[in-house]
Amino acid sequence: MSRLRLGVNIDHVATVRNARGEGYPDPVRAAEMALAAGADGITAHLREDRRHISDADIDALAAICRRRGRPLNFECAVTPEMEAIALAHRPHAACLVPERREEVTTEGGLDVVKGHNAIAPVVRRLVQAGIRVSAFIDADLAQVSAAKAVGAQVVELHTGAYCEAVRERRPQAEALLANLKAATAEAHRLGLEVHAGHGIDYETVKPIAAIPELMELNIGHFLIGEAIFIGLGPAIQRMRALMDEARASQAA
Ligand code: PXP
Repeated sequence: MSRLRLGVNIDHVATVRNARGEGYPDPVRAAEMALAAGADGITAHLREDRRHISDADIDALAAICRRRGRPLNFECAVTPEMEAIALAHRPHAACLVPERREEVTTEGGLDVVKGHNAIAPVVRRLVQAGIRVSAFIDADLAQVSAAKAVGAQVVELHTGAYCEAVRERRPQAEALLANLKAATAEAHRLGLEVHAGHGIDYETVKPIAAIPELMELNIGHFLIGEAIFIGLGPAIQRMRALMDEARASQAA
């Protein structure tokens, strides 16, 4: 089984910074610390309303990732503005996400089935520019084949519903995990690289990391929250250890 990569999403360092309109805490410093603590890459979502990450943050994050030879995963909506920013920076990866201004976070996956005609040309242009394109979708087989059909090379499965069900001790959790496993297997069968993310914590990371075809997890909010108590480096190291344990238990 291949090693599972960890992308650390530093958006919510910027959320705290922006709450006071100050220059700190600095998400770029968090990205440096995350890489030093064992993150394989940095993930950042430039939202249309710039509620956390700013354009200047993306400039600086792209520069440090380039300098350190680590991947920047640029999360963005499918809009002409975001496409232009992605093309200007040419990050290692662009993860296409749905965006509604009134949502607190990315509440569901991108509807690639419905959005095929709008999404396919954007994917084509990004791929032509050498960017690895990922579609952030729900764990749904129709969305997986639609992602393949628009030319995405990667799908990132939205783990939010599963993680919430586990936290609330709802019986649906098991079925939601089964959906994640089935979508992962199908995407892998279609030749897509499979990532997962949203809402993952120390508990939910274990069953998710045990899904053998997964190649990368992107984790943010929980790690930034945990950093308040134990520090960002130790929080990332603990998450990394839990991922490795889950993988090792599968291989055993
Ligand atoms: N992956 C994607 C595509 C996301 O939009 C987000 C949230 O911005 C994450 C991963 C990380 O989610 P969380 O912050 O809940 O760990």
